[in-house]
Amino acid sequence: MSIIYREKESTFQLDTPGSSYILGLADKEKFAGHIYYGRKIGEDDVAYLMRTEEPPFLPSENNRDRNSFLDSFPMEYPGSGGGDYREGAVGVCTKGGHRTVMPLYKEHRIYSGKPKLEGLPATFGTEEDCDTLELVLEDKLLHLELVLYYTAFRELDVITRSIQVRNQGTEEIYLTKVMSLSMDMDNRSYDMISLNGSWARERRIQRNPLGIGRQSVGSVRGVSSHQAHPFLALAEKNADQKRGEVYAVNFVYSGNFLAQAEVDQFGSVRLMMGIHPEGFCWKLEPGERFQAPEAVLVYSCEGLGKMTRTFHDLYRNHLIRGKYKDKKRPILINNWEATYFDFDTEKLLEIAREAAGLGIEMLVMDDGWFGRRESDNGSLGDWEVNEEKITGGLKYLVDEVNKLGMKFGIWLEPEMISPDSDLYRAHPDWAIQVPGRTPSLARNQLVLDLSRPEVLDCIYEKVAKVLRSANIEYVKWDMNRQLNDMGSAKLPADRQGELYHRYVLAVYELQRRLTEEFPRILLENCTSGGGRFDPGMLYYSPQIWCSDDTDAVERLSIQEGTAMIYPLSAMGAHVSDCPNHLLGRSVPFATRGYVALAGTFGYELDVTKIPREEREMIPEQAAMYHKFNDLIRTGDYYRIASYQENHEYDCCQVAAKDKSESLVTFIQVLGRANFRSRRIFLEGLDPEKRYQIEGESRTYRGDTLMYAGLNVRSFLGDYQGKLIYLKMV
Ligand code: DGJ
Repeated sequence: MSIIYREKESTFQLDTPGSSYILGLADKEKFAGHIYYGRKIGEDDVAYLMRTEEPPFLPSENNRDRNSFLDSFPMEYPGSGGGDYREGAVGVCTKGGHRTVMPLYKEHRIYSGKPKLEGLPATFGTEEDCDTLELVLEDKLLHLELVLYYTAFRELDVITRSIQVRNQGTEEIYLTKVMSLSMDMDNRSYDMISLNGSWARERRIQRNPLGIGRQSVGSVRGVSSHQAHPFLALAEKNADQKRGEVYAVNFVYSGNFLAQAEVDQFGSVRLMMGIHPEGFCWKLEPGERFQAPEAVLVYSCEGLGKMTRTFHDLYRNHLIRGKYKDKKRPILINNWEATYFDFDTEKLLEIAREAAGLGIEMLVMDDGWFGRRESDNGSLGDWEVNEEKITGGLKYLVDEVNKLGMKFGIWLEPEMISPDSDLYRAHPDWAIQVPGRTPSLARNQLVLDLSRPEVLDCIYEKVAKVLRSANIEYVKWDMNRQLNDMGSAKLPADRQGELYHRYVLAVYELQRRLTEEFPRILLENCTSGGGRFDPGMLYYSPQIWCSDDTDAVERLSIQEGTAMIYPLSAMGAHVSDCPNHLLGRSVPFATRGYVALAGTFGYELDVTKIPREEREMIPEQAAMYHKFNDLIRTGDYYRIASYQENHEYDCCQVAAKDKSESLVTFIQVLGRANFRSRRIFLEGLDPEKRYQIEGESRTYRGDTLMYAGLNVRSFLGDYQGKLIYLKMV
């Protein structure tokens, strides 16, 4: 058991292999206080760290200064409006319009294993993997119970947190805010690391010193978004890839979120993660419960690199599911950048015939096969095959592709409705909109009100009918606009504030149904590229399209930011045509292959039209994929050099868990005149063992390669790269 309760001191200690998380109860009122989170410590009485023996003292001893106490005590889950002027984790509005909430300890339970979160994605673990503490807080006046779930993983430095709010009273209560995690950390100076971006520029790493006040990242776009990412790390000033303490939090949720660090008057930090309170108001009837999503805490005292590897192991083993969880994915070719909307059966078969001979294993038919969709202006919701384009029908096309020895995949955007669609003409009230207000369009489309069960059922049936009609083995689930004009024709006035969250729950329900009915299907989520690349989506789809930017140089930064949290097996990455359609940049075909190899690997081009020399390289790239993918999918990832930081070259490495082999990807983005080789320092090798680099006759000791380094000769020209493959001898 990795969780203990020390009755004498009223403290709880949660241990993982390298970290301890300690909380305790203070005063007769039993305030739940945060004591410590960090490097693992042994059995000791550390309740003194709550400073209850210092002024302003405990309220029962000094009620005169109760506010000062509340405003400085390290709350484990702070209420609102009661005298703690830092940001509260929970917000309410009672029937009488009052907003103060003060949760205090009621009881607790400790057990092995991890409960499921109803209707929500979450990490999972068996009784052998993890232990859980349920800490029940209550506000007696409001008859409101808050059950805080903490799960400590036995093999990983991970603690997950979530909360369930229960209305035990006789009157309804409105929840205006429910953070999944709040943690008061003591005064130390940190840098805050977040991932930010835009469409086609997702997940750029940003690092800033944390100053007094509230610093946050968040999304109110209805999706986790391209712009912000549900991730925040606090790192010691000197923390780098190998050294220093890092506290990271990632949110297993795909909608609005707030990730915030607040530094108070004493320099203490309150870290929070949860559903963004903006636009959120959830009515809780007597007896009802509200389940907040899960936040994942990772601790590392070996820098950002260890944090990354912990996330990768957690998500590979305790989040990603399904047939492809631990399997190599078929090399796919997608026709989006090849044809956009201009394709028919013959064109697709022409691509498939050529691709099959080159070692490509699956054809994916992208947007434009249904309704009357000749552009992105209409037909979303009309999920019937356009037989004028797909002549012979979908089954014929799929069978023909299968005859070539290839699998077949299809693109869908089930959450949407075009104003120009039969579905909208029949059910205009099925779109999210505010009565009397013309909703703002994005890509000429609206979002379906999936909070309505009849809408969800109808869309699922339409989509499932297509998937049942042929041997479809892959789905690219797209989502090309964010939410606004929030209004549901069905929800009552006092439940309209539930729409954002109900929408996300409905998306999860759709994906649950799809993955359960079609376990053969490899699901790849996509949101105009990487606008919903989050752990929530990863629970349903083992891979997510990383970005619509397929330029290999831009991808270096996008994939670096993504891989800081998510395993390489999850990163949708393809070789596309040049000049790149978004940037106009031309990068050698080989380099495009090396960059895509660090993800799921596939093609996004018209293989019948690319230059012959490039086409001839595809079988070699396919062989490279088959040779290295097991290592890339399962190994330990190391960030060796960052093009984002040095503006010249990029280098990452994957080492097998047993250290027997390793692959280094080195990309020289910019060449320099009169420049010598660059020294790189490998990681993850056995210092005592010898390694041979493929293509070289000599061997190196592991410690030589890690501590003394390896020289990589400069290339002539920009955008050049190479793979360095080493094997233990
Ligand atoms: C956005 C996706 O990210 C693209 O890959 C493509 O599928 C288009 N949508 C299709 O509309």
